[in-house]
Amino acid sequence: MIEAEKLKDISKEVANFYNRVHEVITFPNNSVQSYRATDIGDTYEDIIRDSSVTDSMKVLDAGCGLGAFASYLASTKNCDVTAITFSETEFSKAERVYGEKSTKGNLHYHHADFHFLKDNFSSNIFDMVMFLESFEHVYDKEKVLRDVLDILKPGGFLFIKYHFVLWKNAAGREDAFKKTLQSETDSMRIFTHLALHEYIKLTESIGFQVKLVKLPSINTDDYRSSNANVEVANSAIKNFNFTVPDFPVTQCYNTLLQKI
Ligand SMILES: C[S@@+](CC[C@H](N)C(=O)[O-])C[C@H]1O[C@@H](n2cnc3c(N)ncnc32)[C@H](O)[C@@H]1O
Repeated sequence: MIEAEKLKDISKEVANFYNRVHEVITFPNNSVQSYRATDIGDTYEDIIRDSSVTDSMKVLDAGCGLGAFASYLASTKNCDVTAITFSETEFSKAERVYGEKSTKGNLHYHHADFHFLKDNFSSNIFDMVMFLESFEHVYDKEKVLRDVLDILKPGGFLFIKYHFVLWKNAAGREDAFKKTLQSETDSMRIFTHLALHEYIKLTESIGFQVKLVKLPSINTDDYRSSNANVEVANSAIKNFNFTVPDFPVTQCYNTLLQKI
């Protein structure tokens, strides 16, 4: 269990990092997801398919970035969507760009920290909680998963699109691999990684049943080779202290869990 004060400090640090990111990087389609297709609609439809989110669900988008997915979901489905981010810049931009748009379902943005879900939400109220490339920033994964279990209704779902660490692929290169990840975690404390087997063990021990672990069915090559991505990547390398390893360190999967 990590102390609340430490979690608050880390959350502020990450929020400031994102505030600064948005000063210097413009994300295509306002999506801060990196494992995506050029056509962001393909990515969102893939998430909707794999999460089995349906009309009339009450959904929490935890770590919503600039709010684009939450708005897409509320526009295409008759859901009640609450979207949270701890970055002030993201919160105000999401409100400005999408807050007034008319949607099929309900849509609300909140400035809130996902490390303290129980301070913000009552027990048993959501049908679905989603972390879309934001679980990487959950520093105390056990606490947050327990809190998610609490705010989900019985039988509710947790969908996490997450970059899992590839220990196996790093066989023989553990030192370089650990150094790369450690430097990221130490210098910015913004990414914390789990391997898939660790994730399954942890989520099951907390009271979730794993329903799906799947590669997203999207064409990511078209985005990776696009000018838009090259611009985002170059800007990130120029403005932040990113180490770009010359071997794959993570693989993104869609995962669906159910509260049992
Ligand atoms: C890679 S971005 C993904 C954004 C978004 N899900 C999307 O689809 O564009 C990670 C997001 O997590 C948010 N985040 C990080 N730490 C957070 C915290 N403690 N509480 C709430 N949001 C947080 C960041 O501000 C950022 O919006």
